Amino acid sequence: MAKNRIYLCLAHMSGKEQQFIQEAFDTNWVVPLGPNVNAFEEDLKQFVGGEKEIVALSAGTAAIHLALIASGVEAGDEVIVQSFTFCASSHPIKYLGATPVFVDSEAETWNMDPLLLEEAIKDRITKTGKKPKAIIPVYLYGMPAKIDEIMAIANHYDIPVIEDAAEGFGSKYDGKVCGTFGKYGVLSFNGNKMITTSGGGALICPDAEAKKEIMFYATQAREAYPYYQHEKIGYNYRLSNICAGIGRGQMTVAADHVAHHQHVQKMYEDLLADVKGIIVHRQPADQRFDGNFWLCTITLDKSLRIIGQENAYAEAVTGAVGGAAGVTHGGDSVHTDCEPNPNVEALRLVLEKNGIESRPLWKPMHKQPVYKDCPAYLNGVSESLFKVGMCLPSGPCVTDEDVKYIVGCIKDAIAK
Ligand SMILES: Cc1ncc(COP(=O)(O)O)c(C=O)c1O
Repeated sequence: MAKNRIYLCLAHMSGKEQQFIQEAFDTNWVVPLGPNVNAFEEDLKQFVGGEKEIVALSAGTAAIHLALIASGVEAGDEVIVQSFTFCASSHPIKYLGATPVFVDSEAETWNMDPLLLEEAIKDRITKTGKKPKAIIPVYLYGMPAKIDEIMAIANHYDIPVIEDAAEGFGSKYDGKVCGTFGKYGVLSFNGNKMITTSGGGALICPDAEAKKEIMFYATQAREAYPYYQHEKIGYNYRLSNICAGIGRGQMTVAADHVAHHQHVQKMYEDLLADVKGIIVHRQPADQRFDGNFWLCTITLDKSLRIIGQENAYAEAVTGAVGGAAGVTHGGDSVHTDCEPNPNVEALRLVLEKNGIESRPLWKPMHKQPVYKDCPAYLNGVSESLFKVGMCLPSGPCVTDEDVKYIVGCIKDAIAK
């Protein structure tokens, strides 16, 4: 049966977005502020429990950047960040001239290992004579981290936590929304996220005063004068009132989206249960973990043979992962010193031929050439997961039929 291409996580509209956008045009609020921005922030505030304040921004990356500024991070400082993540968790540390200190993951949630976190803090204090300025744990693929343990350590050393919940929108830990445990929480509304504003993000702030400070830096740090007066460096990071209109429409289906991702995860768990050599990554059985399963992930045993795996890296890819508009540099070689096993790449290629998008797990930051000189506290977990893991389509556009088709293609790809 010919199928339309199945994407990892495609935007899905509620049908209400255009009404909010139309209102913005009708009232001429075509600027990066206005009624949609305010109402979207209020919707988000309620969604995360009603106690925190929200600043809507142009990207999740901007939210991390601003949270670092508000945490006092400056050139020469160090910031602890989960290594197993997308580059946006750590790049803003570099924007500020500070140094990321990478901490590996524990094997259960794939997120920041609390034991290594404490080891890293102690060692940085011994080696540099000062504390890291902030800690950035990540909710990778939406999975709740062991945030109680992380918070206990952060509080003990009095270091602010910036939770990167870009992928964890709607995930909960112990009944509380991820992104509301630390001082700041980061959300992303990029096109592939749980909800989208086409591009956008938000920072969850502890109170109105913190929100005001973030707004100041998000609007080019304008001092209170009748003319432009600048005493600090600020940024143009507010969300547009048009994009916020999309966000308001998306908030009407946010809970449905989360439920759908969880449903797709359950289907993969059931349908792949009897496939030897493939493990669907689940959340810990502990009831406190209530992940959104933004992306469903599997790991492949090294011994599992996929048809065609001997030619897995025979051809160079020509585009960037995630379709970054073709703005890529050609690689010198099809190999790097740390890459997914041949059976993982072979399965990706088989799925691709069948019209299914899949993706290797995120390559840990401590293995990225751009970060080769940064301190890293490692236990081997993220590196070994990167070699064996991949992400499968999830999201509201993935139907039950799609999941069955994907699982069928995976089963067919295994060499008998
Ligand atoms: C873990 C993580 N952090 C931060 C971001 C940055 O979000 P944005 O793309 O909205 O800048 C993303 C997603 O893109 C992400 O996956």
